[in-house]
Amino acid sequence: MRRDDSDMAHPHSPPSALDAVAPRLCCPACDDALHRDGPSLVCAAGHTFDVARQGYVNLIGGRRRHRGDDSRMVAARERFLAAGHFRPVSRALAELAAEHTRSVDGVVVDLAGGTGHHLSAVLDACPRRFGLCIDASAPALRRAARAHPRAAAVGADVWARLPLRDATACAVLSVFGPRGIAEVERVLAPDGVVVVAGPCPDHLQELGRLVGGVGIDPRRPERLAASLRRFERLAERVVRGRIALGREEAHAAVAMGPSARHLSEDQLARAIARLPEPVEVTVSVEVSVHRPVTGGAR
Ligand SMILES: C[S@@+](CC[C@H](N)C(=O)[O-])C[C@H]1O[C@@H](n2cnc3c(N)ncnc32)[C@H](O)[C@@H]1O
Ligand SMILES: [Zn+2]
Repeated sequence: MRRDDSDMAHPHSPPSALDAVAPRLCCPACDDALHRDGPSLVCAAGHTFDVARQGYVNLIGGRRRHRGDDSRMVAARERFLAAGHFRPVSRALAELAAEHTRSVDGVVVDLAGGTGHHLSAVLDACPRRFGLCIDASAPALRRAARAHPRAAAVGADVWARLPLRDATACAVLSVFGPRGIAEVERVLAPDGVVVVAGPCPDHLQELGRLVGGVGIDPRRPERLAASLRRFERLAERVVRGRIALGREEAHAAVAMGPSARHLSEDQLARAIARLPEPVEVTVSVEVSVHRPVTGGAR
């Protein structure tokens, strides 16, 4: 009997991406270096973190405060992304990350990276890099661990200290997710960049209007600028277009987002049933690249 997608994992094949990034990880209990020891990552003090059979490793230290997206939201996001509706967003991330990290050493870290979908596109554009998807959600990490042969997946809370050594990332991707900016600065290699993607005010606005739920914070640009005040903005692109969604896809688009937390399954199903089919919606996403201003306080 298939219980869930975890049964599709290969319990005996060591995830080589995890081996490659392990020297860049550190122990959430004592901050010491971690090394691979058979089915676990271990520090010198003996703190041991087992690699799940799906290939990810949980490095959430102390009491767990955030669980991230639940399996329903993750499955909806996976469906929506697999249909290719955000492909231009992935492309912009990949092009900008590749262009701005050419001479920088390090791995690509996808912070709150979910299923590793965008990380995978970035790794395709950076053929010698390894990547690391960090997320708090176990259902997301299961997918991220197999998103790309050069992507590893690690469980961590992005609001806490990241289980990463200093100056270890050539790029940190932050796509529609939370980020602790001081930790982003700490883990970026010299000349490394953070690539941020987030919604413009009209992003998926038709669904928001028709279904109700959580809208986009109109003060996002100011909040972003304030949080990145120790960074210089190197580049930006707005990915804008119209897409036609069937009811199932419209359902996935709402179920993967913050509105899902505020609507019951019934409320969502009723709202989706009232939508025209197909429903035309706007995709409107800003992707921007930022580098810490050298000499600034770290
Ligand atoms: C809107 S999704 C974006 C996922 C991915 N970046 C993408 O665009 O496909 C937000 C992600 O943040 C994760 N998340 C939320 N709070 C978190 C936290 N405190 N630490 C780590 N991940 C978190 C969720 O599990 C979810 O995968
Ligand atoms: Zn330790």
